[in-house]
Amino acid sequence: MEKLIRFGVSIPEGLLKKFDKYLKEKKYGSRSEGIRDVMRNALVSEEWVDPNMEVMGTISIVYDHHTRELEEKMSVLQHQYYKNVISTTHVHIDHHNCFEVLLLRGDAGTIQEIGDLLTSSRGVKVGRVNLLSTGKNI
Ligand code: NI
Repeated sequence: MEKLIRFGVSIPEGLLKKFDKYLKEKKYGSRSEGIRDVMRNALVSEEWVDPNMEVMGTISIVYDHHTRELEEKMSVLQHQYYKNVISTTHVHIDHHNCFEVLLLRGDAGTIQEIGDLLTSSRGVKVGRVNLLSTGKNI
């Protein structure tokens, strides 16, 4: 395991109280672990500046499956990017709405492109693209 460094940080009392409340809600065991995660997340989000970087990703969408040609379009898109799509999970929310999550891998630019194509499709009510580092450079 990498050597741990202790350091002092000066922050406003109110900010620390809010952060401690956040850590408690997120079930962090210690303030240190919470701060480490915040720092990692800040570094990870910076990495997306490079569209060629290898990432893992999820695309989550909620859509109305009655929308004409949407499921056909989604299927064609997933076959087009079959090298990036690892798997998909489909949940029928109710008579109209579906929840679908795609697990992906590839370069950040491509994953974002697939996400943009899906979330902007007619019939998609809400969509979110989440890119994660492979962890190799952290
Ligand atoms: Ni469904």
